[in-house]
Amino acid sequence: MSEKINVSLKVWRQNQGEEGHFEVYQAKEIDTDASFLEMLDVVNEQLTLNGKEPIAFEDDCREGICGCCGALVNGKTHGSYEQTTLCQLHMRKFKNNEQIVIEPFRSHAFTVIKDLVVDRSGLDAIITEGGYVSVKTGNAPEASTTPIQKERAEAAMDAAECIGCGACVAACPNGSAMLFTAAKVSPRKATPSVSNG
Ligand code: FES
Repeated sequence: MSEKINVSLKVWRQNQGEEGHFEVYQAKEIDTDASFLEMLDVVNEQLTLNGKEPIAFEDDCREGICGCCGALVNGKTHGSYEQTTLCQLHMRKFKNNEQIVIEPFRSHAFTVIKDLVVDRSGLDAIITEGGYVSVKTGNAPEASTTPIQKERAEAAMDAAECIGCGACVAACPNGSAMLFTAAKVSPRKATPSVSNG
């Protein structure tokens, strides 16, 4: 059963090219069934009503699929729950009256555009350089008519798990995108050869 909790947020605020700083906000009466982003929506509504600038953050699907969302929560990418994006992190994971520190992904590879939004276009550059599969397949065939070896199917599924959020870059001390790159080139290896005809 859902409850209501109060949390104190220490949030990084920054405009592009300027120094950033933390500001503290109170999020009151937050439903524990709310997602982390829904909690930020509530805070932003309050900030807007008070004539202040809302906290900038990225989102799209809010279903853990698109990879748009992401921030450091208490120093961990997405809040450190395994295979849980920020939009799938729920407020039931936090305690009443807890202070939560929210920062953008910290990496030399990602510059801050605003508040929690960072420039992840470096990941797009990797995709452009060949981290995609392009095959003329004609009309989509019935899926079960193309037998695929189990190991290949599993490897492709493992690679498809990467949604390109950039958390691996932010978690790497070298700001390397090797996990992302590996995930993007692996489907090419795992895809059975199809003629280009
Ligand atoms: S908003 Fe799409 S994965 Fe979080």
